[in-house]
Amino acid sequence: MFKRYTTLESVTLNHPRLTAVLCCGGNLMAASWHTPLSRVPFRYGIAIRPQNDTHALLTRIGHCSLNFLDIDEYEKIDYTGSVHAHEEKKSDHCGFNVMMHDANANPIFEHALSVFGCRLHDKIETGDHTLFICDVEEIFLSDNTALEPTLFMGHGRYATLNEERRVSLRV
Ligand SMILES: Cc1cc2nc3c(=O)[nH]c(=O)nc-3n(C[C@H](O)[C@H](O)[C@H](O)COP(=O)(O)O)c2cc1C
Repeated sequence: MFKRYTTLESVTLNHPRLTAVLCCGGNLMAASWHTPLSRVPFRYGIAIRPQNDTHALLTRIGHCSLNFLDIDEYEKIDYTGSVHAHEEKKSDHCGFNVMMHDANANPIFEHALSVFGCRLHDKIETGDHTLFICDVEEIFLSDNTALEPTLFMGHGRYATLNEERRVSLRV
């Protein structure tokens, strides 16, 4: 049986969503509403609410890094998604270790599986979020195979993959 809803207002989606930390203008924001949009050129969409300080920052600055982090970082990720830039300087408190920077001086964190260096291409108002369409100008992939992705399921629940299944590839 299923419960039926017609809006998201009273629902917490229970499917796991890959979660990243968006870094822009020295600020950090947890983001789980994002998706690839094009392979060539590589474009990536991130949905951001106008109430978040990141919305104005990314609009003004026009570039960011998107860090896809290991599950052990979940409390730090959650912190960046629970506090606004105008309330606290999150980069002073979050505890992420900056390993290097992308071409636009946005941080690349130590326990990232991958990081996108993004430049804003376009914006579309989709409703109560704005879709920021970014050109991914740089892709950083970690060679640490022990890292596991962070998945968010709402209401403070985080998980990672615990089983991989493979199909045989068609040639
Ligand atoms: C795991 C997680 C994922 C989130 N994903 C998004 C998202 O995709 N888009 C968004 O606008 N807010 C998202 N949020 C909420 C923002 O991260 C949160 O409002 C944050 O405090 C905004 O920071 P800022 O005001 O410094 O930009 C998420 C929060 C959490 C905890």
